[in-house]
Amino acid sequence: MGTYTAGVDVGSTQTKAVIVDTARRPVGYALIDTGAHVVTAAENAFRIALADAGLRRDDVGYVVGTGYGRYRVTFGDSQVTEISCHGRGAVHTFPGTRSVLDMGGQDTKAIRVNAEGEVLDFCMNDKCAAGTGRFLGAAATALDIPLGELGPTALRAEKPVKISTTCTVFAESEVLAWLGRGKKIEDILMGVHQSIASRSIALLRRVGIENEVAFTGGVTRNRAMVEIINRHLGVEMNVGETSHFMGALGAALYAMDHVESDAALALSGREAV
Ligand SMILES: Nc1ncnc2c1ncn2[C@@H]1O[C@H](COP(=O)(O)OP(=O)(O)OP(=O)(O)O)[C@@H](O)[C@H]1O
Ligand SMILES: [Mg+2]
Repeated sequence: MGTYTAGVDVGSTQTKAVIVDTARRPVGYALIDTGAHVVTAAENAFRIALADAGLRRDDVGYVVGTGYGRYRVTFGDSQVTEISCHGRGAVHTFPGTRSVLDMGGQDTKAIRVNAEGEVLDFCMNDKCAAGTGRFLGAAATALDIPLGELGPTALRAEKPVKISTTCTVFAESEVLAWLGRGKKIEDILMGVHQSIASRSIALLRRVGIENEVAFTGGVTRNRAMVEIINRHLGVEMNVGETSHFMGALGAALYAMDHVESDAALALSGREAV
């Protein structure tokens, strides 16, 4: 039985996997698009993370699935909600974290946690992608620029426009309307970022903003979004290279708890005999 554990976070947009060792250090990562074949995405992400860690399937003793597709992790031993996993992963990586902002493809979640990374309260954007990566994706499509260029382009803005739509469906037409009025791409994009940032901060306020704040999910890769939220919040959020993987990391840590409590049970059983 393997001593490593894995977390597989099947998000609406991207699937992430992380493998940790018994010291709870991440040793392998994977990131792929979820696409239409959710079960396959989970399998592929796990396979890639194993290869990244230089491990075999047997080396992993327990797998926790999380994210919207957590029940499609057919090889998973149990499931934990993504709210719990993002809280856990963020506090593990940045121990001072008490509030978490997870910005994914479909949802934005604000979470308040304790020092153990347990969830005290949380709040989600209600069935509306206006404050999420999808809103940014719609703007990127309308402006015909790659996702990775969104942030750097927005940061060149001099006179940001004010985006009034609160709906992703209308984001594209509003962006096109601003283009038609001769506005610069960077000024439109900055407007889109600011609209998402202010909505996220409102969500964080609903659960209570407690220093330190960690930023998790795929939108953490967008440097402009990090800078804008930091500026509005007046604090530097905890964010790093692995912030996209916080949910998968949290899942891998819950998996390690299982392995350790099983081992403790086995040990106490032996002592009782
Ligand atoms: N290189 C990048 N640059 C900018 N943004 C990125 C990059 N990579 C991913 N993103 C953003 O991250 C989003 C995906 O984030 P994430 O993987 O956290 O979502 P998810 O977990 O699938 O969604 P959800 O949690 O809502 O179900 C994409 O929609 C995109 O906006
Ligand atoms: Mg997610």
